[in-house]
Amino acid sequence: MDTPFIYGRIADKENFTNRVNEVELLTQNFNSLINTIIISPRRWGKTSLVNRVSNLLSEKNKEILVCQVDIFNCRTEEQFYTAYANALLKTSTTAWEGFVSSVKKYLSRLAPIVSISDASQTYELSFGVELKDNKLSYDEILDLPEVLAADTGKKIVVCIDEFQNINEYDNPLAFQRKLRSHWQRHTSVCYCLYGSKRHMLLDIFNSYNMPFYKFGDILFLQKISREEWIKFIFKRFADTGKYISEELCGEIADKMKNHPYYTQQLCQQVWLRTTSEKCTNEIVTAAFESLIGQLSLLFTNIIDSLTPKQINFLLAVADGTVNFSSKEVLTKYQLGTSANIKNLKKAALEKDLIDILPGNVIELQDPAFEYWIKNIYK
Ligand SMILES: Nc1ncnc2c1ncn2[C@@H]1O[C@H](COP(=O)(O)OP(=O)(O)OP(=O)(O)O)[C@@H](O)[C@H]1O
Ligand SMILES: [Mg+2]
Repeated sequence: MDTPFIYGRIADKENFTNRVNEVELLTQNFNSLINTIIISPRRWGKTSLVNRVSNLLSEKNKEILVCQVDIFNCRTEEQFYTAYANALLKTSTTAWEGFVSSVKKYLSRLAPIVSISDASQTYELSFGVELKDNKLSYDEILDLPEVLAADTGKKIVVCIDEFQNINEYDNPLAFQRKLRSHWQRHTSVCYCLYGSKRHMLLDIFNSYNMPFYKFGDILFLQKISREEWIKFIFKRFADTGKYISEELCGEIADKMKNHPYYTQQLCQQVWLRTTSEKCTNEIVTAAFESLIGQLSLLFTNIIDSLTPKQINFLLAVADGTVNFSSKEVLTKYQLGTSANIKNLKKAALEKDLIDILPGNVIELQDPAFEYWIKNIYK
């Protein structure tokens, strides 16, 4: 039997829970062509959310095409354009023939190459090295959504996952300027840009002197609430003929601080261990401990990559410390001088270990790591 919990993959259909408000907001924005930026720490469900809205819209509204591009693996501008063109043409065509004729129709000047893989039956568009020298081609690809919108008579929503990656390109600012100058002229297209590097994304979208300042609505995606988890976990157990009390469902969510990925992962372990019909407290505890055990090698590696002060800083964060520059805290955690704190914060942020929430509250991003560093490492 398939397990009723999934993690590390997009959550869809019966695996997707709640997010009613977010789905509604995004659907409205897409329908009204309002640009939207979604920010959350890793593994909180951005991709699943956008995918959900995209699926719902394509069922309900034939006047809209939603195109999803993941630029996680794009290290250069050229790779961005290739991924972008591929995603757009794949969304707007249904079969190989349609894809090939669209490539010819829209991009023939860019000497495109289309290849098909026999094994996976997928096809890919690529460009020769000339792309780099032919600046015109960039414009052509960036305007492709608007051209497709005009040709198909549909509105187009372009969703770009891991958008912060554009900061790794050779000249990110020039690239942002170029994107914006094209995108702001598009009238039948809107953009949904999302990623997990909160500070990088806020720099792009919230700094007055940056090209994307006030480009669209910014949505800070939250975790899934405890109540929703309880309903979801209870139902998924029941669907597969197993019983878990609401109290234990809440316990699972609490242990993982409602973190979407980890809550599902712990659920899976608990579900697998529930061999009779009824889940017990002991099962939840054993599953949690075993999961932390599995992760501890990974966490040890993280610790090995840090300086003693950086580790102390994380310990202070794990303890819920608020005022890091106070003398008491500096001494208790041996953090050095208060001038150090800024660097410690920056390093932890860059390593994705902490998140700074509104009100300057600092939190460890990973609830399992938080438990481990407090209870096992110490
Ligand atoms: N709406 C949801 N309902 C249930 N589980 C969810 C939901 N959204 C996310 N999850 C859980 O969280 C995991 C991560 O989701 P997803 O990949 O969408 O997050 P992400 O924010 O895009 O992550 P990353 O920043 O790593 O790209 C999923 O595999 C699933 O276990
Ligand atoms: Mg994602």
